Amino acid sequence: MSEHARCLTDELCGLIEGPTKDIVPFITLCTLDTIFETIMGVKLHAQAGKGREYLQAVHGLTAIHMKRVQFPWYWNNTLFKWSPLGKQWMKNLKIIHETTRKVIQDRKKELEIQQKDEVIIDDKSEVVKKRRRLAFLDLLIESQRQNSDLTDEGIQEEVDTFMFGGHDTVSSSIAFAFYLLAKHPAVQQKVHEEMDLVLGNNRDKKIMMEDLQKLEYLGYVMKECQRVLTTVPFVGRNLERDKHMCGTILPKGTPVWMGYYWLHRDPKYFPDPEKFDPDRFLPENSKNRPHFSFLPFSAGHRNCIGQKFAIMEQKCIMATVLRQVKMTSTQTRDELGLVGELVLRASKGIYIKISHRD
Ligand code: HEM
Repeated sequence: MSEHARCLTDELCGLIEGPTKDIVPFITLCTLDTIFETIMGVKLHAQAGKGREYLQAVHGLTAIHMKRVQFPWYWNNTLFKWSPLGKQWMKNLKIIHETTRKVIQDRKKELEIQQKDEVIIDDKSEVVKKRRRLAFLDLLIESQRQNSDLTDEGIQEEVDTFMFGGHDTVSSSIAFAFYLLAKHPAVQQKVHEEMDLVLGNNRDKKIMMEDLQKLEYLGYVMKECQRVLTTVPFVGRNLERDKHMCGTILPKGTPVWMGYYWLHRDPKYFPDPEKFDPDRFLPENSKNRPHFSFLPFSAGHRNCIGQKFAIMEQKCIMATVLRQVKMTSTQTRDELGLVGELVLRASKGIYIKISHRD
């Protein structure tokens, strides 16, 4: 995480004193590099301009999915399959599946060699002993060895799910958090001060796991950003049984949408809800607030399985970038063009001016 965050920081530092830029594409490449390596154990190098085909296919699928939701004539599987949009969908899916299938096969072979010899062969074909970073895929392959019910296709589905669930969400969350900090210089100043206190004067020092826990104020800022611009604005369920609610019975099978974006604006729990105020999440201010009033990662059986990972990654990336730079923005909330797709997006981009920090 730290390495990829460093790369992003270098890219953003390249924009210093330049014109304002939409920062979303930069952040997305960083979160894609991070999740790709964590899940599959190999580097994508998206920030270095590689893996563009995979990247475009991932974004293509999300865009097509949203069009399909919007236009009812695409809901029928057969009509969709034969439409130009459906064909584009299949093309993107093929690229994604081929990439993950190849990584899975390569990884399996690599693990076999490694198990036999307990060594790894590096790029220059030199045999070196080194400690490997355990990837999510390694755990799945190991699990398959112990329990043959898990097929290669099953592994691929898990890998694809995590790739999808784990990069756009974090990217959007970080981009909106930078936007809100850029709009609230006093809060940004407090974040900078906390970082100087916790991390010391060496701004190039790699940020480690133990540092992240100490950045408490940054944690409150991240929560308030999630409250104001909720990354996953709503989730859906089909009712498995009749549900009594506000004097009405919602029958079994009813599709239900839960709007977390609006939940987070309930003035009963968050007075003056449009006001950006990270102090709402200080322990003394949040101790009496019910748990279900703030659900950026949802709740229940199908809540976000990547929550801890996401928080760690976001903190690491934000801290690494903010160690070096200051952000400002003149863009108003209306000018963001907010759209609630699978994740909340700024359809008009998030334009930030990057400068040296004091
Ligand atoms: C800020 C970042 C993130 C946010 C706001 C977020 C939010 C959510 C939410 C609200 C859900 C629940 C959807 C529902 O209730 O139907 C969910 C599910 C999920 N998330 Fe995340 N997520 C984030 C990052 C991640 C990351 C980094 C990963 C993977 C490493 C991940 C993997 C998943 C998976 C696999 C599910 C589906 C769980 C299931 O259906 O059982 N998420 N996420």
